Amino acid sequence: MEDIRIRYYSKTGNTKKIAEYIANELNLKALSIDQNDYNSPCGLLFLGGAPYANIMSSKLREYANNLIKENVKAVALFTTSNWSRRTVRALKKILREKNILVYDEFLYVHMLAVNGAIEKTKLFVKNILEKYKG
Ligand SMILES: Cc1cc2nc3c(=O)[nH]c(=O)nc-3n(C[C@H](O)[C@H](O)[C@H](O)COP(=O)(O)O)c2cc1C
Repeated sequence: MEDIRIRYYSKTGNTKKIAEYIANELNLKALSIDQNDYNSPCGLLFLGGAPYANIMSSKLREYANNLIKENVKAVALFTTSNWSRRTVRALKKILREKNILVYDEFLYVHMLAVNGAIEKTKLFVKNILEKYKG
């Protein structure tokens, strides 16, 4: 499934772990947004991040700002945090303003529940793939 990409920003490893669960499910690799590969075309992008003092990292915001509709068919968002879903809301806003398709469904995992989130992640991936493949 080469047209699927998994990218994340993770300071302390929680979001990275979720990204890796997604990657395992798809037999792909999850990579940090440091790849700066927003310019290369992909079909479905799984994009994840977390809030730090209420805001996502500026690197993740920049990555989202650099994505263009022509290079990404659909985006599925995931986030980990102590309580906030703000990262997802903010990413949705940025991407939808560019007319990029972002699925309403997103994956939220509490920062202390990451280790037990494999099944939840599997279900999320299954749901998203169903939407993506139509
Ligand atoms: C400096 C710092 C600030 C944080 N601020 C928030 C916050 O405002 N809201 C929240 O829900 N969680 C907050 N958290 C919790 C993180 O979002 C949570 O641990 C998340 O899983 C971190 O993701 P990461 O391990 O992928 O970096 C904060 C964590 C840190 C270290």
